[in-house]
Amino acid sequence: MSDIAFLLNGTPVRVAGESPTRTLLDYLREVRGLKGTKEGCNEGDCGACTVMVTDESGSRALNSCILFLPQLHGKAVRTVEGMSGPDGAMHPVQEAMVDHHGSQCGFCTPGFVVSMAVAHKEGATDHDDRLAGNLCRCTGYAPIIRAAEAAEPAPVPAWMTEDLRPVAGGKAPFAPATSDELAAWYLAHPDATLIAGATDVGLWVTKMLMDLPDVAFLHACKDLQGIEKNGATIRIGAGVTIQRLRSALAASHPSFAELLRRFASEQVRGAATIGGNIANGSPIGDAPPALIAMGAKLHLRKGDTRREIALEDFFLDYRKQDRAKGEFVEAVTIPAKVPDLACYKLSKRFDQDISAVCGCFNVTLRSGRVESARIAFGGMAGIPKRAAHVEAALTGQPWTEETVRAALPAFARDFTPMTDMRASADYRLESAQNMLLRYFHERSGTATSVLEVVA
Ligand SMILES: Cc1cc2nc3c(=O)[nH]c(=O)nc-3n(C[C@H](O)[C@H](O)[C@H](O)COP(=O)(O)OP(=O)(O)OC[C@H]3O[C@@H](n4cnc5c(N)ncnc54)[C@H](O)[C@@H]3O)c2cc1C
Ligand code: FES
Ligand code: FES
Repeated sequence: MSDIAFLLNGTPVRVAGESPTRTLLDYLREVRGLKGTKEGCNEGDCGACTVMVTDESGSRALNSCILFLPQLHGKAVRTVEGMSGPDGAMHPVQEAMVDHHGSQCGFCTPGFVVSMAVAHKEGATDHDDRLAGNLCRCTGYAPIIRAAEAAEPAPVPAWMTEDLRPVAGGKAPFAPATSDELAAWYLAHPDATLIAGATDVGLWVTKMLMDLPDVAFLHACKDLQGIEKNGATIRIGAGVTIQRLRSALAASHPSFAELLRRFASEQVRGAATIGGNIANGSPIGDAPPALIAMGAKLHLRKGDTRREIALEDFFLDYRKQDRAKGEFVEAVTIPAKVPDLACYKLSKRFDQDISAVCGCFNVTLRSGRVESARIAFGGMAGIPKRAAHVEAALTGQPWTEETVRAALPAFARDFTPMTDMRASADYRLESAQNMLLRYFHERSGTATSVLEVVA
């Protein structure tokens, strides 16, 4: 049971006796009567439940339906009720939504307003990305984007900047402040569930109705949140969020950062961690294929024992990883530069969708020949997996279209993909082959993007 303290719309609150997996959304609506925050999907997909969460690193828009109360300990939460001023003055984004007719039925509007207010506070103007996790079924996005643009020049209201004062008291359920503490505790509780961003675990509770009796929250482990450049490598702590990773690698690993732009939504990226994306072992997680193509190393820790393995060796079989009981992911290391890397994500929707196929290519050339090839895919097998036969068919050969076309049949030796709601097996196989062709043409300077249409 928990005893949690945080600021709610500027007022300190204490929550005692709630289950550690009580969601913020349920608490807001059922206990506080704050019903402006809506429940749409209850699985992180629609953004109707968006709240603003502020801590020392700034403000984030997060989905309250998959946020557990202990994740808020010591932070500040603002719901849509806290967007307007104490005297009832509207927030500039609310005024702009009225002026630009940004709302019809209004069900999605609280979530949009909160996402827009967070972007406004942070000075962000990439509205398409910022609002990709907020679904509106009736107004259409044009008036909403116009409203977000119209609010840009307005100053941030004073009440939106008062959330940084500390909140005293309370004690969250086990949320270690260091990885040493975590290591010792997990050794003694090897069957416990670790919760990082809760963007997967949240759904175990809200959709699968699982009881999680023994949990540890990782968000307070600051030493798992570093991004350190050590010479030729970059070490990324397991607790680094996808959002932070995307900004940190935007200049050095642009194709990977672009892949992360299409990872879920702003609300999910702000909570989800790289450690959770690896440890969950999903065959359609977006980061693992890219990391494997880069030659990433995974750092695991159990008690005081640490080991390092190639990331591809971590994934053994469908949902089965090389991780012992009581062992956790500490970090992942990637090369500081991967100039030949290209990542392609194919999904039914461009924004906020899980990959049907994710292909990542890292082919090094020397004197017109393929010196080495690392090619990895998500969505093509029960695990994220290298295309070993395709790599072998390319290596040592001249880098020509003939070589690439001759390597295409090797995909069928590497992968026997499945048919599911995202794609058929045939479509997956053909798409994977086409991704290699695309990579070849892009590297030869041919434009391949169908997103930018030129008249
Ligand atoms: C709406 C929505 C859209 C999504 N879209 C995408 C997408 O586009 N691409 C994608 O790849 N994923 C997507 N996901 C899945 C999810 O966001 C990611 O897998 C995310 O990276 C999980 O990280 P987390 O920190 O939230 O993990 P959590 O949910 O906290 O944990 C996930 C698993 O990892 C374990 N774990 C966490 N940290 C560690 C650690 N350090 N050591 C050992 N075990 C650990 C947990 O015990 C649990 O088993 C989406 C999810 C939602 C809800
Ligand atoms: S209710 Fe849909 S994202 Fe939370
Ligand atoms: S205004 Fe109706 S869903 Fe957006």
